[in-house]
Amino acid sequence: MRIRVLGSAAGGGFPQWNCNCPRCDGLRRGTIRALARTQSSIAVSDNGERWVLFNASPDVLQQIRSFPALQPGRALRDTAIAAIVLIDAQIDHTTGLYMLREHRQPLQLWCTRQVYEDLTRGNPLLKLLEHYCGVNWHELPLGEDFQLPGLEGLRFAALPLLSNAPPYSPRRDQPQPGDNIGITIRNNSGRSLFYAPGLGQMEAHVWAAMQAADCVLVDGTLWTDDEMIRLGVSQKSSRAMGHLPQSGEGGMIEWLDRLPRTTRKVLIHINNTNPILDEDSAERATLAAHGIEVAFDGMEISP
Ligand code: MLT
Ligand code: MN
Ligand code: ZN
Repeated sequence: MRIRVLGSAAGGGFPQWNCNCPRCDGLRRGTIRALARTQSSIAVSDNGERWVLFNASPDVLQQIRSFPALQPGRALRDTAIAAIVLIDAQIDHTTGLYMLREHRQPLQLWCTRQVYEDLTRGNPLLKLLEHYCGVNWHELPLGEDFQLPGLEGLRFAALPLLSNAPPYSPRRDQPQPGDNIGITIRNNSGRSLFYAPGLGQMEAHVWAAMQAADCVLVDGTLWTDDEMIRLGVSQKSSRAMGHLPQSGEGGMIEWLDRLPRTTRKVLIHINNTNPILDEDSAERATLAAHGIEVAFDGMEISP
């Protein structure tokens, strides 16, 4: 199984266009050692020929250009993207669908009913796409294994988890099961990845899925709960936005510490304010001491 990190940043990317926080400013000025990052998406394949996108980032065109396997060039119009799975209905995970509108057939799209509702009502993106390629919507089954056509060597299992619904959703701050999911991906030899770029609370079934995985690729949005408030860029805490902060009591580091030593631990969906983006930061050293990696654009994982 091949996992390719297409975009490792949270909404806004890194640097964010209008942001002059220490990380964004430091990257632009070259005063910190850090990598620019595009917005949240991964591509997964069993054989390297056909790929499923998890999330369609606003940066998807740049991501396709930087990963030639997604453009195999076998026909006049061609793509190696066989399917798209959405883990929520947030802007940073769905806007890329607009950029794929030239597809020759309807896009094969898997998401929950709640995500489908948000994308046909509050943000009627799927309705607009009907005027272009359209989508073939497949309701994502929760709690049971499913397969994706063209990726027969992989099995997928989605589980509901607590994060948040998008700001435009009628369920903002009252998320329901299905507004956010995590995914376990398993190959024929039983190796598995657990992916959850938005994870706000460690429920028992989520913890069980993380313990069972060979690699976890999980929410690395913010270092502290009040990070954006203290910087003066937002009024919202990390937990209120549906993202478990890394540091502190009950934070992601504490949870990852309790996984088996052999589990590979990688943070993804990093917000541009997060000090871990600075490779020379104390926070980054703390992660390294705990055996936790930070995803970057172009990272490949073979669990
Ligand atoms: C989030 O996960 O909270 C998002 O990155 C928000 C956004 O897309 O602006
Ligand atoms: Mn996001
Ligand atoms: Zn910033």
